[in-house]
Amino acid sequence: MATSKATRDMGRLVALFLLSLLGDLSRAEISSKIGINFGMLGNNLPSLNQSLVHIQSLKAGRVKLYDANPEVLRLLSGTKIPVSIMVPNHEISNIASNQTAADEWIRNNVIPYYPDTMIRFLLVGNEVLSCYADQDRQMWYDLVPAMHKIKASLKAHDIRNIKVSTPFAMDVMRSTFPPSTGVFRPDIVDTVMVPLLQFLHNTKSFFFIDVYPYFPWSDNPALISLDSALLEGSVPFIDPVNGLNYTNLLDQMLDSLIFAMTKLGFPGIRLVISETGWPTAGDIEQPGANIHNAATYNRNLIKRMTTKAPIGTPARPGIAIPTFIFALYNENQKTGPGTERNWGLLRPDGTPVYDVDLTGKRPLSEYPQLPRAKNNVPYKGKAWCVVARGANLMKLGSALSYACGEGNGTCDALAPGRECYEPVSVIWHASYAFSAYWEKFRSRGATCYFNGLARQTTRNPSKLSQPIASLEDV
Ligand SMILES: *[C@@H]1O[C@H](CO)[C@@H](O)[C@H](O)[C@H]1NC(C)=O
Ligand SMILES: *[C@@H]1O[C@H](CO)[C@@H](O)[C@H](O)[C@H]1NC(C)=O
Ligand SMILES: *[C@@H]1O[C@H](CO)[C@@H](O)[C@H](O)[C@H]1NC(C)=O
Ligand SMILES: *[C@@H]1O[C@H](CO)[C@@H](O)[C@H](O)[C@H]1NC(C)=O
Repeated sequence: MATSKATRDMGRLVALFLLSLLGDLSRAEISSKIGINFGMLGNNLPSLNQSLVHIQSLKAGRVKLYDANPEVLRLLSGTKIPVSIMVPNHEISNIASNQTAADEWIRNNVIPYYPDTMIRFLLVGNEVLSCYADQDRQMWYDLVPAMHKIKASLKAHDIRNIKVSTPFAMDVMRSTFPPSTGVFRPDIVDTVMVPLLQFLHNTKSFFFIDVYPYFPWSDNPALISLDSALLEGSVPFIDPVNGLNYTNLLDQMLDSLIFAMTKLGFPGIRLVISETGWPTAGDIEQPGANIHNAATYNRNLIKRMTTKAPIGTPARPGIAIPTFIFALYNENQKTGPGTERNWGLLRPDGTPVYDVDLTGKRPLSEYPQLPRAKNNVPYKGKAWCVVARGANLMKLGSALSYACGEGNGTCDALAPGRECYEPVSVIWHASYAFSAYWEKFRSRGATCYFNGLARQTTRNPSKLSQPIASLEDV
């Protein structure tokens, strides 16, 4: 009897061991691949078929969508590429209050493709806590209830290998530096963050974070070392509270989040980097957006995240962090500053902006030399906002009235008889209005974009002898 019990125990032990091994292996499989964000905010992007070809030739280990595009999900079936799909923000509140709506979402967006299409992450909303308009507040509070209902729908279909989560931006943090002082914003801690962390803990899901060392560095290039932001290794920073040793900004940002979660009683929730990257171009006053830095950051990132033994972070050494790079394409219809339209690994025609091996196998020394970075120091001179090349003249009129309508007397100088009335041309007047508007509101976050009608220049348009013709070339 004793022997047989011992044998049974032994058998159970072996089974447990194998199970844990399987768990480790599947986790290792999840972690050692770099994913790509497939954003589609462009009017010049390749077909979805062609995009799938690009994703495969980039050897992306996963793909993340900002919706549940049926054609993409069909194209992915049988490709063995795990995919992350998303419930759009505007559907969150309805789903939160209505299990039938959640069931319907799963029935329409998961069931037709699963399991042939390897849906592995289902993200409810995108950066929901970064939507600050009054009418978005309800969505904050509906987020976790919606995640519960989505999870229940998956369970009802006995689907257990799709993790439910939601990606946040770093503005969920009130403090990130030094990392040990990391805490979440007080306005979301009790209402959203604690229930969310409880959900992630109970369902063994991941905390998804969009984390860009580019932003803190470009806000503060004099204070933060570029090498640290680019994962090049830098003078160590020792956290005064716990003595942890940081040599890059990404680890600092991630650990601030880990410390914030730990303070709320959730020390073990694993991270996924749902977005990270570096822009290859941007506005005049945005430093460091260039091919040299983008290639350096992404290549270093991929190296770090694909090592056989995971590196982790100082607070969590050895724990892998699945990572999605932003983004597949430069997307010309994204609004905001110039960098927004220049995060892609590929141009809209599918050619690479720079070489990058997403598998991490290519040694860094085997990439061709990169162009020198010319804009790492912030531009301090004056800049103007003028009509962009190829701008649609039909649309200039309303942009001109918009710019002039903002503020107090923004376009007074364009009135007949005033100093900027001549030459009487919509291009000239719009360029004046864009510049006047931008100068007035820049400090409050206004951008020189106007839906693609405007661009920045360092050459004073009023000093050109032939302003209208020359606008094409400045
Ligand atoms: C995309 O591929 C599908 C099947 O592979 C095919 O039926 C469809 O015609 C293709 N569409 C384009 C635009 O190539
Ligand atoms: C719940 O959602 C379903 C499906 O969208 C809809 O038909 C139904 O009217 C909703 N119920 C309520 C109470 O809103
Ligand atoms: C911090 O790490 C760096 C790089 O690994 C190392 O050179 C340095 O000695 C460490 N500093 C401390 C105080 O541990
Ligand atoms: C516009 O300017 C006038 C006169 O200088 C001033 O009284 C008024 O408050 C200003 N309005 C705004 C919105 O700044």
